[in-house]
Amino acid sequence: MKLERLAPVTFALLLAGPAQAGEWMVPNTARDLKNPVADTPQNAARGAKLYVDHCRRCHGPAGAGDGGEARVEYDLRELIKPLTDGAVYWKITHGVGRMPSHAGSLTDHERWLSVNHLRALARERDAAAKPAPGAPRRGAPAQGQPKKD
Ligand code: HEC
Repeated sequence: MKLERLAPVTFALLLAGPAQAGEWMVPNTARDLKNPVADTPQNAARGAKLYVDHCRRCHGPAGAGDGGEARVEYDLRELIKPLTDGAVYWKITHGVGRMPSHAGSLTDHERWLSVNHLRALARERDAAAKPAPGAPRRGAPAQGQPKKD
């Protein structure tokens, strides 16, 4: 049983490395889409709230793959790095493998907000992992709690 869960992951790693996982599925037209949602503090708060409501249960509080339901076996923050915003948007819209489509549950705008939030989670993780020499460690909460204004 353990092997069954691990085999596809190992296979994907052998084939392409984690960075390319699933990239082949995204049409070029989607990959080149321009993100219409600005990365403002207000939008960031809305994206964080959407993540809590729609993504956290599977992807974990910060995207590390430690959600309780339909556990995802990789860190979303790493996986999205080589992907364009359009590709991530497309995957959220259509679903990928065991991940359901969010075309019905989220509006276009909300899906772009979610893309931005994933980027923010990746940035937070990088900042926490590699603080600039001499710089104070960021005090931001690791789980990206939405800020109420
Ligand atoms: C029901 C559980 C579930 C929910 C809810 C869910 N996901 Fe996923 N997601 C998954 C699983 C499982 C995968 C891995 C798919 C695979 O490879 O089979 C995945 C993969 C992804 C990927 C693609 C990674 C790749 O392969 O390139 C992105 C991006 C993503 N999720 C973002 C989100 C966002 C954003 C939300 C919330 C709007 C969300 N997910 C909600 C389960 C979920």
